[in-house]
Amino acid sequence: MNIIEETGQHIMSTYGRSNVVLDSGNGATCEDTVKRKYIDFGSGIGTTSLGFSDSEWADAVCAQVRKLQHTSNLFYHEPQAQLAKMLCEMTGYSKVFYGNSGAEANECAIKLARKYSFDKYGKGRHTIITLVNSFHGRTLATLSATGQDVFHDFFFPFVEGFRYVKANDIEDLHANLDETVCAIMVEYIQGEGGVKPLEDAFVKEIRKICDEKDILMIADEVQTGIGRTGKLLAGEHFGCMADVTTLAKGLAGGLPIGACLANEKCADVLGKGAHGSTFGGNPVACAGAVKVLERLAQDGMLESITRKSDQIRSRLSEISEISDISGKGMMIGIALKTKKAPDVLQQCLENGLLVLTAKDRVRLLPPLTISETELQDGLDILCKVLEG
Ligand SMILES: Cc1ncc(COP(=O)(O)O)c(C=O)c1O
Repeated sequence: MNIIEETGQHIMSTYGRSNVVLDSGNGATCEDTVKRKYIDFGSGIGTTSLGFSDSEWADAVCAQVRKLQHTSNLFYHEPQAQLAKMLCEMTGYSKVFYGNSGAEANECAIKLARKYSFDKYGKGRHTIITLVNSFHGRTLATLSATGQDVFHDFFFPFVEGFRYVKANDIEDLHANLDETVCAIMVEYIQGEGGVKPLEDAFVKEIRKICDEKDILMIADEVQTGIGRTGKLLAGEHFGCMADVTTLAKGLAGGLPIGACLANEKCADVLGKGAHGSTFGGNPVACAGAVKVLERLAQDGMLESITRKSDQIRSRLSEISEISDISGKGMMIGIALKTKKAPDVLQQCLENGLLVLTAKDRVRLLPPLTISETELQDGLDILCKVLEG
């Protein structure tokens, strides 16, 4: 079968794909169908947090597939309860709702915030402030939450009740606050928006406003969460705990999962029948996520992410083509002086390295467990391309 041809013929062409058919992987190295090897600095967009086919993770997932692959949420099962307990104990949140993706986790957060406000204050307090240049997902509500005009086309009518404020602009934030606002939703580091971290003072102001006005702060940690920035949650860098935090991507190491975590104040807002999902909290995905969390809890694991991040940054700082390096931990954005990010991506690919782009930056999201050799080999390729 010609996989690329069949894909073109039978799958809706919503993605701009590289001309590579990936076939297998191990650690941070994968192989295509013509046996070319690639070092992975992208993790399937921040998702294969333990790399490809990590053996402990694969054993746990396969054991769960053989034991019980699905139950529906009309019954209980162990992986779901175990994961929720770990998530709450490790983060300080009180309860979790499971979905299957980042967008679903954010949908849950949006519904939760609106119901929290409805229950306490009645109708009309439904506006959610999000940030210009944010990205929150592809469902209609999360597209509406996304503060980028480019996503607000074709699919009219969009979901009402979102208002966009400029990131790090405290004045703009205050100007958009009124009695209809029930939540402020942010990414601590805008990922798809170009790996742009929020400023400390802006995050603190959001937290303060939310406390004063009983508005829920929602942190979309779909990309930044689960160790990606060297902390379990990126909010820790800002000394900030949102009322609601959403997770997905790296949580289950490459299996579909989304989680919406709520603190004590709003953990019981969504009661029976208020929300649901057939697959959410699926035993196999949860078993994978338990393994990811176990690994992140191991001594030295988070520190190793920061150490590797420092290595990457230090090596890249020698490259004159680079004008700026943004992000935290192993979520890295590289601004270029003369080259174009898509060209760098293509040249890296041709030289055996997978990287990503975000807006005009080259973006790196290597597996958190990447080995020293893979890291150095990958950096050799990237630096060669950037210096070429
Ligand atoms: C911050 C953020 N939120 C939400 C999403 C949507 O996640 P998903 O594609 O799993 O629905 C993404 C995906 O890139 C993201 O980066």
